[in-house]
Amino acid sequence: MGQLKLSTDAWSSQTVFILAAVGSAVGLGNLWKFPYITGENGGGAFVLVYLACVLLIGIPVLMSEIALGRAGKANPVQAMSNLARENGASRLWALLGLNGVLAGALILSFYTVIAGWAVSYFVQSISGAFVDITASEAGTHFEGLMASPYELLFWHTVVSLATIYIVSKGVKQGLEKAISLMLPALLLILLVLLGYATTTGAFGQSFNFLFAADFSKLTWESVLIAMGHAFFTLSIGLGTMMVYGSYLSKKGSIVKASLWIAFADTAIALIAGLVIFSIVFANGLEAGSGPGLLFETLPVAFGQMAGGWFFGTLFFALVVMAALSSAISLIEPVVSWFDQNWGIKREKAVWILGGIIWTLGVGTVLSFNAWQDVHFLGERTFFGSVDYLTSYIMLPLGGLLMAVFMAWVMKKDQVQAQIDLKAPWINWLLLDLKWLAPVAVLVVFSSSLVESDSVIWMIALSLSVYAIYVWNALKKEGGEKI
Ligand code: TRP
Repeated sequence: MGQLKLSTDAWSSQTVFILAAVGSAVGLGNLWKFPYITGENGGGAFVLVYLACVLLIGIPVLMSEIALGRAGKANPVQAMSNLARENGASRLWALLGLNGVLAGALILSFYTVIAGWAVSYFVQSISGAFVDITASEAGTHFEGLMASPYELLFWHTVVSLATIYIVSKGVKQGLEKAISLMLPALLLILLVLLGYATTTGAFGQSFNFLFAADFSKLTWESVLIAMGHAFFTLSIGLGTMMVYGSYLSKKGSIVKASLWIAFADTAIALIAGLVIFSIVFANGLEAGSGPGLLFETLPVAFGQMAGGWFFGTLFFALVVMAALSSAISLIEPVVSWFDQNWGIKREKAVWILGGIIWTLGVGTVLSFNAWQDVHFLGERTFFGSVDYLTSYIMLPLGGLLMAVFMAWVMKKDQVQAQIDLKAPWINWLLLDLKWLAPVAVLVVFSSSLVESDSVIWMIALSLSVYAIYVWNALKKEGGEKI
């Protein structure tokens, strides 16, 4: 293999890094996924578990992942290999990076399909299709879109091409600027919607639904979903934050950055939830209606409010942009791996990978129509299976191993060179990474498996064997370039 390249692309500043990381974190996970899984899992207790996961597992893993990237100075596969070598651990740690680049490609394959729905809604909104729309008309509209594979495929293609185009240009060109304009605008529109939500008469009910915890409804499966979502929404466990961290200069504060990312991400998800459930309850809609929730509710709000055409169009444009700034961060780890380790230039790599990911996405397109009743993992459609495998298995496992590496394998002075925390905070963090985060992930993981079926059992079992294998390899010396 040729000469290896390290990450050199430094961000223009620490602020730009934070913006790009927030741009990655804030996406469909906040606006589309959080509300619908909260609806499906009964509200309050689920939200509380999710918040606890963000605080106790998410933020510590986020800090670790950025730190591993900055210390390893390369794409996730190479960064882990570099760090393993420096710390006398096995080169098999590179598999952790591999798990990430694979998960990134899998997530992106359905992410572009869902982002495509938002592009379609943006176009519909411009044409005035949502003016005075009723809740049942909005539902019918969404069902119509789901029923037409060619339409879905078209929008999936549009988003895939946009993602490929941006990434082929490099992260710095254009993206930095787009995000710094877009995020404030998104927040502003959400606040306008929040204002509207208070006029629906169901705001209090929505608030209660999100924050009044009734633990009797909680199953291990929903705890797993809450935990998986904490990983998904913060963009951790995969290598996105590792690559972004590898472009961060030594001077930037990882602690400050992580706290900002987690705060912005959580605030946006909660506001989106408050808005959406106000509309749900005011119109007698079903909170647990699934992936269509965002698309069946918001047109109703825009159809009724003053200036709704304008705000609606802008909102869907912003959803698309939020999705794009996340989409590029899903493909960046694998693209930089191809570029740095395989000598395949960014421009070429992104087209090859984009093509593969687009093809996988066809499975998600069909999951909503022709393959609606075709099951893959357990009772899940193709889309459901890819989502389950990545969000609820690969990301938590990736995050777990990152925590383990950071706390058990990295030398303490190396950790301290990255994490700008003073005692006692640094000790609390290490304690959390050593015990709390890994044990919590394993407990949730195994308990939810007891509740589900055998295929998933088998996947989990093989993944656990793989985890133990990596863990064992830890003790062995060695590690060269891979
Ligand atoms: N966090 C993004 C969202 O909420 C999705 C995302 C981008 C992601 N990069 C990631 C999820 C890396 C997991 C890992 O929409």
